[in-house]
Amino acid sequence: MNKVIAIANQKGGVGKTTTAVNIAASLAATKRRTLLVDLDPQGNATTATGVDNLNSKTLYSHYFEKTPINKCIQKTKDNYDVIPGSEELIALEVSIRSDGNQAFLSKSLKDLESNYDYTIIDTPPTLNQLTIEGLLCASGTLIPLQCEYYSLEGVTGLMNTINTLSNKNMTTNRVLGIVRTMVDMRNNLAKEVSEELERHFPSLVFNTLIPRNIKLAEAPSHGISGIQYMPNSYGAKAYLALAGELIRRVEHV
Ligand SMILES: Nc1ncnc2c1ncn2[C@@H]1O[C@H](COP(=O)(O)OP(=O)(O)O)[C@@H](O)[C@H]1O
Ligand SMILES: [Mg+2]
Repeated sequence: MNKVIAIANQKGGVGKTTTAVNIAASLAATKRRTLLVDLDPQGNATTATGVDNLNSKTLYSHYFEKTPINKCIQKTKDNYDVIPGSEELIALEVSIRSDGNQAFLSKSLKDLESNYDYTIIDTPPTLNQLTIEGLLCASGTLIPLQCEYYSLEGVTGLMNTINTLSNKNMTTNRVLGIVRTMVDMRNNLAKEVSEELERHFPSLVFNTLIPRNIKLAEAPSHGISGIQYMPNSYGAKAYLALAGELIRRVEHV
């Protein structure tokens, strides 16, 4: 069965896209059939996969021009598939709301259910309708978090939103875990926040820490994941380990 996982945090620059792309690549490396959906109009995940976001069919074409969803899918050099995102998604966001078409994406992804083991959804840095669409499709959400002073602000809001949606039986989504990103343990504040997270959310925080690693930041300009760009880098190894933890949580293996 396809496991749909949203990567969300309404704060920008916390490592959502980097996590989405490298988790997708890590899952593909374990031969799991993986689809990445770029729900951010900034299209950073799309760029990172090397797919041309100017000449690609996005969910916009699917919604407005009735392009079948499978015609929006492209292959990446990391052996996972991607549904690209671009600025067109801004218009999609507005229309889903004004048309009262909530959960449009859940219905569309249902048609692809048997084609994939995992669908990873990268969401924009706001709690707008596109993010809600992602949260409604997902059976689990990963929250990337930078260990900084204000990092927890907003996360409670996101958790409340997920709980509200599932209390209304609109989704079975639950928070799968918190991922500590861009970690630099030489920084005392990062260490303190990291330890506080472990105390506050002992069952939610993933053991794997994603280090600040320049290779992860360089990889997108080559249109490949960090896993493929520099497999032996600390960043790549951390994402592979994180994917292992995720698989154990999701598949109970
Ligand atoms: N672990 C990391 N080490 C170094 N740079 C990182 C790491 N994670 C993300 N970055 C860089 O930080 C910036 C923000 O990350 P990104 O994944 O785009 O965040 P978001 O999607 O939450 O806005 C990007 O330039 C990205 O390349
Ligand atoms: Mg992003």
